[in-house]
Amino acid sequence: MTTQNRQLRSVVTGVGSYLPSRVLTNADLAAMVDTSDAWIVQRTGIRERRIAAEGETTSMLGERAARAALQSAGLGPDDIDLIIVATSTPDYTFPSTAAQIQAALGMAHGAAFDLQAVCSGFIFGVATADKFLRSGSHRRALVIGAETFSRIIDWSDRATCVLFGDGAGAIVLQAQQGFGTVEDRGVLTTHLRSDGRHRAKLYVDGGPSSTQTVGHLRMKGREVFRFAVDMTSDVVKDAFAATGITAADLQWFVPHQANRRIIDMSAAKLGIDPHKVIATVHLHGNTSAASIPLALSVAHDDGRIKRGDLVMLEAVGGGFTWGSALIRW
Ligand code: UT7
Repeated sequence: MTTQNRQLRSVVTGVGSYLPSRVLTNADLAAMVDTSDAWIVQRTGIRERRIAAEGETTSMLGERAARAALQSAGLGPDDIDLIIVATSTPDYTFPSTAAQIQAALGMAHGAAFDLQAVCSGFIFGVATADKFLRSGSHRRALVIGAETFSRIIDWSDRATCVLFGDGAGAIVLQAQQGFGTVEDRGVLTTHLRSDGRHRAKLYVDGGPSSTQTVGHLRMKGREVFRFAVDMTSDVVKDAFAATGITAADLQWFVPHQANRRIIDMSAAKLGIDPHKVIATVHLHGNTSAASIPLALSVAHDDGRIKRGDLVMLEAVGGGFTWGSALIRW
């Protein structure tokens, strides 16, 4: 390979996560609304989720996940020059959760900002950081997905309150020289999509400029479900087309963790072996932008995801937004 083919790649060098300590089980929910463990497990695969303690904010969860990712990378806050936080449940309208985390990490250098693409936020964050790193403008990024969806749930609405949970996950992405081939370590391709016409299917009914309140999550679950499988397949196929990589080449498929049935149907439609699917939705529920880095953290820590593995990430969320990122670990 000649030197002029060399190009910067964004390589994952650390991964970490953090979950609040309080566990909310399906049985707990059945005591709050008209639902059952059997219904929740059969329709979603979710068995429990975590709920942030009073006063425990999104930035606190994100900071813990960031510190774990830094430790896994063998780096400290001084080594980072970019922080991107994907969240729809920021501590405040402003300043950004990213700036809060930056301060909590003791950093006074670099740039930190939030990015909002709901459940696809982590993929949008990875794609954004990848472009910063490959341009050469920044060297090491923390990409964090952190959420406290428990704060925007209508706890009397059984159709949504059983689905969501709180948590945070993070990765360190580091600019390293590659050769511009799919054998390189790092982010190989990203594909982002959105279509704002679908707003009414999944939205929060409040905000600073409309109601001056935070609002509650509202969802037409069946309609979201119908779109989710198709949208997932489209962006994953885009990643295959861009790289020549096929479903058979993947070691791992790490989809957004919203519903076990959506995960399984998406994998089947794409011809991905069920053994390659990383699913943590039974433990975490839907943690929106935190779901993919939480799943990555579990599968990294238990030794499934190893250096050199081809890992396909994909997510679908409110907006609608959807996207994929193909990474050689
Ligand atoms: O991150 C992206 C965000 N969201 C998603 O990915 C969610 C996508 N959608 C889904 O996961 C599913 O649509 C749900 C899990 C939300 C619902 O499953 P479903 O199979 O689509 O059920 P449904 O909405 O069609 O409702 C079936 C029945 C209804 O009763 P009737 O009208 O048939 O009598 C609901 O009222 O289930 C009822 N129901 C419940 N029953 C017990 C709805 N929620 C519950 C509940 N417990 N928690």
